[in-house]
Amino acid sequence: MDVVEDVSELRRRVGAERCAGRTIGLVPTMGYLHAGHRSLLDAARRDNDMVVASIFVNPTQFGPGEDLASYPRDLKRDHAVLDAAGTDLLFLPSAADMYPDGAGAQAIWVEPGALAGNLCGASRPGHFRGVATVVTKLLNMVQPDTLYLGQKDVQQAAILRRMVRDLAFPVSVRVLPTVREPDGLALSSRNAYLTPEERAEAPALKRALDCALAMIGTGERDVARLVAGMEEVIRRDAPDGRIDYISVVDAATLQPVVSLQGDVLIALAVYLGKARLIDNAEITIG
Ligand code: PAJ
Repeated sequence: MDVVEDVSELRRRVGAERCAGRTIGLVPTMGYLHAGHRSLLDAARRDNDMVVASIFVNPTQFGPGEDLASYPRDLKRDHAVLDAAGTDLLFLPSAADMYPDGAGAQAIWVEPGALAGNLCGASRPGHFRGVATVVTKLLNMVQPDTLYLGQKDVQQAAILRRMVRDLAFPVSVRVLPTVREPDGLALSSRNAYLTPEERAEAPALKRALDCALAMIGTGERDVARLVAGMEEVIRRDAPDGRIDYISVVDAATLQPVVSLQGDVLIALAVYLGKARLIDNAEITIG
């Protein structure tokens, strides 16, 4: 695997492949790779001639007081994971290349608007603006045919899909299912923050989602009762957890639904110690 830090060098390498008619898949990450990232890399490997992964802990998507400084990093291990997945090129941009005027100091941003107003956006103001802006830069730098994202970060995926459509980026978007631990916990780089006690409580999020799906399966259509059922599971199985939100929204607009119908997204975020865990389930109700 080639490792490239310089943007001109990246453009030269990827440009040569593109000119030769080869397809390019991009898997953007913040590193500390796990099997969730690996599933995106595997999909990109199956679909494309060239797989480009990026690792960049993007400062503009972290709020003040969030974990930018302590975000887990292990480049050596990441290198091995990327190699094993058959990645062709690892792009490791510097903060100075990404943000020539300094992080936060650029004049033009990509604003996701109402799609960033609720769910994670409500407690992380500016987060999705940072994500949309850095992914725009990565798309402009790599110019891939396909962008690979995970369903675990469903609001991010919805915003980036919409960004690609609204701003006419010449790229397809593929969203891959959430990869989980055997006990249901969604894999996340931030799971590294969990103490053994918190880790034992963390599968409560998936259990709460399963509870909601089971309630829908037996005919429940009342959103408030669904949310109450999920809260009960969190209180019971994760007594140290603090619920940020449990929401039932339209899967396309991410706006709260009044009646359970069509493509619905059930999403939640729970603080557990130093970690803020998220999970979601999508369901079509006829
Ligand atoms: P990061 O958290 O490193 O995640 C990189 C990609 O892996 C995202 O598309 C995310 O949804 C996906 N992913 C994470 N955990 C997953 C899991 N358990 N199953 C499947 N996919 C999973 O998301 C980011 O980085 C950043 O916001 C980024 C898009 C790179 C912009 O900075």
